[in-house]
Amino acid sequence: MALDLTPEQKAAGKANFEQAAGDLARAGKMNTMAVGGTPPDPEKPDRRDFIKVGLAAGAVVPVSAAVYYGYQSWKGNKAVRTAVIGCGDEGGVLVGDHNPEFNEVVAVCEIRPTNMKRIFDGEPNGPRKGLNKLYGKDTAAKIAKYDNIDSLLADKDKLGLEMVVIATPLNTHDVIAKKCMDAKLHVLCEKLMARTITKCKGMIAYAKEKGLLLSIGHQRHYSTLYAQALEVLNAGVLGDVKHIRAQWPRNNSFLFTASDAEKAKFAPGFDIPYYRDGWCKPILKEDADALPSEKLKELAFGDVNQYGFNDVKELVRWRLYDKTGGGLMAELGSHQLDASSIILGHVHPLAVSGIGGKYFYGPGRNDRESDDGVFVTYEFPGPEHPKGAKKGKNENDIVIVTYSSFNTNSFEDYGECVMGSRGTMILSKEAEVYLYKEPEPGKANSGGRDTKVTVSTGGKGAVMASTSTWGGGGGAAISKAPGASAWDSAVRGYRTEMEHFAFCVREWQKLGKPVSYEKDEKGHGLKYADIIPRCHGEVAMADAILALTGNMAMAKKERIVFEEDWFKPESAEVPETKHAKKA
Ligand SMILES: NC(=O)c1ccc[n+]([C@@H]2O[C@H](COP(=O)([O-])OP(=O)(O)OC[C@H]3O[C@@H](n4cnc5c(N)ncnc54)[C@H](O)[C@@H]3O)[C@@H](O)[C@H]2O)c1
Repeated sequence: MALDLTPEQKAAGKANFEQAAGDLARAGKMNTMAVGGTPPDPEKPDRRDFIKVGLAAGAVVPVSAAVYYGYQSWKGNKAVRTAVIGCGDEGGVLVGDHNPEFNEVVAVCEIRPTNMKRIFDGEPNGPRKGLNKLYGKDTAAKIAKYDNIDSLLADKDKLGLEMVVIATPLNTHDVIAKKCMDAKLHVLCEKLMARTITKCKGMIAYAKEKGLLLSIGHQRHYSTLYAQALEVLNAGVLGDVKHIRAQWPRNNSFLFTASDAEKAKFAPGFDIPYYRDGWCKPILKEDADALPSEKLKELAFGDVNQYGFNDVKELVRWRLYDKTGGGLMAELGSHQLDASSIILGHVHPLAVSGIGGKYFYGPGRNDRESDDGVFVTYEFPGPEHPKGAKKGKNENDIVIVTYSSFNTNSFEDYGECVMGSRGTMILSKEAEVYLYKEPEPGKANSGGRDTKVTVSTGGKGAVMASTSTWGGGGGAAISKAPGASAWDSAVRGYRTEMEHFAFCVREWQKLGKPVSYEKDEKGHGLKYADIIPRCHGEVAMADAILALTGNMAMAKKERIVFEEDWFKPESAEVPETKHAKKA
């Protein structure tokens, strides 16, 4: 993420973060707010104590996610009977990371035969472990298989289904979620919430009307790494934050290659990708044979122009088309803008402008409708702004959040860099967090990339101090936390997101009434916030507004001012009415 940090400087930044979190926890300052914005409940176990327990000798050992997110009382509950709809790349990750103690996968629904196989077989390496490995072959053989959602839902009672996980292409989210809610099933749907904000509002209204849980898979809401970073940020150690730089660079510009054995599996009549790019995969014969266009149109939920796929190529490469996907902003940017709005206290942005488009791919070379490079600038209210977290009076308290993603260079890591007047925090690859102090003018060793940080909490707020340098690689030596791998589930949040959802399902069943989205007496949050998933409809819709309005600003080359009514589920106002580019 940071362009030129050495491994030693990274280790120092990591150790600094651990030291700061430890100092704050020991001073009782690590209880401000958990990711999701719900303040701790005085009636519930105090998170400070749990964080302290994990803080021997200044090192941060991630606290149990169950404790942090308030579902440590799960023991004794039966796993929630779950169907997974859409068993592609992300369905495979979710299945690979789910905890069978919380979710028992009793059915899967998938229209591509190759992905139906893969959800059982898994992959030799990586996060898609497969149902056979997770449940054992004999038990996995009893998991019901469907290639049609209506047939799955018709068997709902026979299967004893309680919830679904939806991981299908973006254009199908709202229609599939509504069908499942019609069948009285709780819904955990992958991001982006829906292809338009009108559809997001429709999903929220449906969940409320049916009294069901609806959550969207922006997993950073369940990342203990982000939760801890937020606690440190909220203590104020970074001073005045005026800029967040978020980015997701990738390189999908190398030529596609395949062995003869692989080529033999490709469907004739479809182009072979020119570049190697996960958004533009080869079309496999097995899928093409099973899914002729007529069959796909039958599966289009009555409207092929909205919910369907004209052919198997559109199904497999759905991210390339405007009808079926939302481009880099929906696929990648939404996660990081979600993170930025969490960091800024769940505030809504004021305006967006940007430049983006298809600058690299073209005819015969992984052509697409979606963009391959975006650079977007959001104006967010700072805490003292009238629309900021503290509802202050300073109209000039603005935080600039930039987001970029390009398909042609991966030199930098993905992540978010939060820049304040007294320090910098870097969240890298959802797996690491680094903290540095700003140097003070004329004072040696008072800050920068190699200096050691401690935090004091006397006086007005938390303040970073730096008195010495780490020396050659010292940070790594003192850092007690094991290096979190990119697929460490406690950090990335997939497993926690599913566990908490299962917990919420059971809690509502115990209450014996439909899910209520009633506001609390102060009108700030939800009355039942503890048993509503953190990325519930309203939260996820805000992320969709950020991503999709960013696309509109780029398409029209305009600065778009966000309207508060767009964020209100009950209002009919949506950005696409005024700002969608007319064909
Ligand atoms: N949270 C994350 O980090 C993350 C990461 C990647 C993808 N995603 C999201 O997950 C969703 C799926 O993405 P993906 O990468 O897995 O795509 P994918 O194309 O690999 O998988 C989608 C699967 O859905 C299946 N499908 C389509 N229509 C269906 C229907 N009517 N019934 C049953 N199955 C159907 C497809 O055949 C395919 O196997 C997207 O919304 C994407 O944005 C989230």
